Amino acid sequence: MALAMLLVLCTFSLALLLYGRPEALENPSDLLCTCNKIAAAISGTSQVFSPSGPEYLFDIEHAFYSSNEASACSVEPGSAEDVSKILCILGSTRTPFAVKGGGHSTNPGFSLTTGVQILMSRFNQTNVNSNFGTVEVGAGLTWGQVYATLEPTGVNVVGGRVPGIGVAGLTLGGGYSYLSSQYGLTVDNVTGYELVLPNGTVTNVTSKNNDLWFGLRGGLNNFGIVTKFIFQSHPQGDIWAFFSTAEDQLDAIKEALVHFQQENDTKTSVIVFMTYTLDQFFTSVIYFYDAPTPSGVFDDFLAVPAIDGSVSRRSFSDFVQSLNSQPAFNGLPTFYNGAPVTQYSPAIFDAFVNQTKLWGARLGSLDKNVSLISSLEPFDKSLFSHGSASAYPPDRSHAVLPSSLTLQWSNASLDETMAYALRNISDTIHATALADGQNVSHAAVYVNYALFGTPLENIYGGNVERLRKIRAGIDPEDVMGLAGGWKF
Ligand SMILES: Cc1cc2nc3c(=O)[nH]c(=O)nc-3n(C[C@H](O)[C@H](O)[C@H](O)COP(=O)(O)OP(=O)(O)OC[C@H]3O[C@@H](n4cnc5c(N)ncnc54)[C@H](O)[C@@H]3O)c2cc1C
Ligand SMILES: *[C@@H]1O[C@H](CO)[C@@H](O)[C@H](O)[C@H]1NC(C)=O
Ligand SMILES: *[C@@H]1O[C@H](CO)[C@@H](O)[C@H](O)[C@H]1NC(C)=O
Ligand SMILES: *[C@@H]1O[C@H](CO)[C@@H](O)[C@H](O)[C@H]1NC(C)=O
Ligand SMILES: *[C@@H]1O[C@H](CO)[C@@H](O)[C@H](O)[C@H]1NC(C)=O
Ligand SMILES: *[C@@H]1O[C@H](CO)[C@@H](O)[C@H](O)[C@H]1NC(C)=O
Ligand SMILES: *[C@@H]1O[C@H](CO)[C@@H](O)[C@H](O)[C@H]1NC(C)=O
Ligand SMILES: *[C@@H]1O[C@H](CO)[C@@H](O)[C@H](O)[C@H]1NC(C)=O
Ligand SMILES: *[C@@H]1O[C@H](CO)[C@@H](O)[C@H](O)[C@H]1NC(C)=O
Ligand SMILES: *[C@@H]1O[C@H](CO)[C@@H](O)[C@H](O)[C@H]1NC(C)=O
Ligand SMILES: *[C@@H]1O[C@H](CO)[C@@H](O)[C@H](O)[C@H]1NC(C)=O
Repeated sequence: MALAMLLVLCTFSLALLLYGRPEALENPSDLLCTCNKIAAAISGTSQVFSPSGPEYLFDIEHAFYSSNEASACSVEPGSAEDVSKILCILGSTRTPFAVKGGGHSTNPGFSLTTGVQILMSRFNQTNVNSNFGTVEVGAGLTWGQVYATLEPTGVNVVGGRVPGIGVAGLTLGGGYSYLSSQYGLTVDNVTGYELVLPNGTVTNVTSKNNDLWFGLRGGLNNFGIVTKFIFQSHPQGDIWAFFSTAEDQLDAIKEALVHFQQENDTKTSVIVFMTYTLDQFFTSVIYFYDAPTPSGVFDDFLAVPAIDGSVSRRSFSDFVQSLNSQPAFNGLPTFYNGAPVTQYSPAIFDAFVNQTKLWGARLGSLDKNVSLISSLEPFDKSLFSHGSASAYPPDRSHAVLPSSLTLQWSNASLDETMAYALRNISDTIHATALADGQNVSHAAVYVNYALFGTPLENIYGGNVERLRKIRAGIDPEDVMGLAGGWKF
């Protein structure tokens, strides 16, 4: 009986299938049909939710570009085998879908959909394997959860800098960490993946799998759905960290930042935030040192008169949990962009100040709720030397500092204006870097910061062609093309 009903309901999709490569489904009753098929196919460890319940609302919720896409249904798979069944059904019915890890992507449609929303939350294991010096982490966890679990174990992994970010999106895009000057990017410290390929085959990917190993390290959701990550672990003791804010100490902060980059202390991490909000401009700095007491490298910074957060020695996890993962205007539309440079020279620092003030004031006059933040992220020169060739970064010959631009506003009719501003700032910083004598012709935009519409070549450089070939071989039916994101 149920099967008969499904068959009737699904005739339209079956008819489409007879014509080879149909367009993705849009009709609500066809989408519902896919949801029913999934519900009938999965095991008891997994569940489909319809738009009435609280689980559904949780599943489609996003940190920023919130809830402007209602999905036909959501599904929480509980095993790789069920992910496999789900992918097969989505592929054969050409149903649009989205995979959500921590839900922090700010580009529209990257992890949300009008079709089937997949939430990975049931993949929530963090297992330390001390024999191998590795940690297995489920693809549904956030970094805050992982650090909290690891805290008593004395080991850590190279992951995100604020608690709510997903392990999945950050790791599949590259991953800049407080520990990156010391150990490299998050992708450089992955030793394996459990992956459900677009054709439903569950497989383990390690450095032995040339193409997939290359593609998964930076290639996000192009090659299937990852259910588990295996990371190299590192010993972790108490750390020292400090957060300060200043209103008018730009020259002192600039000098301290320029000087800091001449030190080569890889236990450090610094982020300089320049914020324009509510007609105010101020700078804040996060200082991190991977030991209970820092060397003297922060002395110049700490001499800058500032409104001080408390200096403290604490656990890595406590420090990360203390950072709110969302800027001031949570829930408002938000876009990110990257503005990569090779050095925060005085000219680059000035350009970031200029652009943040200029566009902050300009956009703020259109929408009082505008908040623009430029984040300068210095890392050690050896940043890209810790790993082998990967999708991102496409060029490991010298360090590139990713710099993020975050823009929030409230008036939806200004979306285009906001995107224009972020492209303009990024282009202006690039031009300033060239004029400053920096070799940024090959400086890729960090894929997890890049604003939608950024040409693939600006993110993946000379890797684009190889990535297209790998994708075509792994996913000839273009199943992953039914999900949004950067597509090869
Ligand atoms: C406040 C904030 C702080 C940030 N801090 C950092 C930082 O410190 N370092 C850094 O490197 N980046 C940082 N980022 C950028 C961050 O890495 C990206 O936003 C990242 O995409 C978030 O991952 P997520 O899982 O939360 O996002 P989601 O939106 O859930 O997913 C992002 C992308 O990954 C895909 N995806 C998710 N799960 C899977 C899976 N299991 N298999 C295949 N594809 C999957 C999605 O389909 C989507 O395309 C920050 C972003 C924000 C908003
Ligand atoms: C993982 O999820 C299951 C069910 O959703 C829950 O019972 C369990 O407590 C979670 N484990 C962790 C470590 O969060
Ligand atoms: C992780 O970091 C260490 C230290 O830089 C490095 O030696 C190692 O090769 C990295 N990657 C892996 C997979 O261990
Ligand atoms: C993947 O590796 C794990 C152990 O690391 C193993 O138990 C599992 O069977 C492997 N899966 C496949 C599909 O090879
Ligand atoms: C840091 O390394 C650079 C070379 O990359 C060197 O010129 C500089 O003197 C070093 N700085 C310190 C403080 O050792
Ligand atoms: C930014 O630079 C432009 C052009 O150099 C200049 O006209 C403008 O006054 C500067 N704005 C700020 C806020 O510094
Ligand atoms: C700013 O946001 C508030 C609530 O967050 C809203 O009431 C107000 O209308 C917004 N202002 C503008 C100009 O859109
Ligand atoms: C939103 O922006 C549009 C276009 O600039 C403008 O016409 C409209 O008045 C704005 N709405 C609010 C509430 O400010
Ligand atoms: C940035 O925008 C300004 C004003 O809108 C324009 O004059 C300038 O050419 C743009 N610069 C870049 C690099 O796009
Ligand atoms: C710039 O860097 C690239 C590698 O990133 C290198 O191939 C090129 O020769 C460099 N150009 C100059 C002028 O140094
Ligand atoms: C699924 O795709 C993988 C990778 O392309 C391939 O090795 C495997 O044979 C495929 N499996 C089936 C059943 O087609």
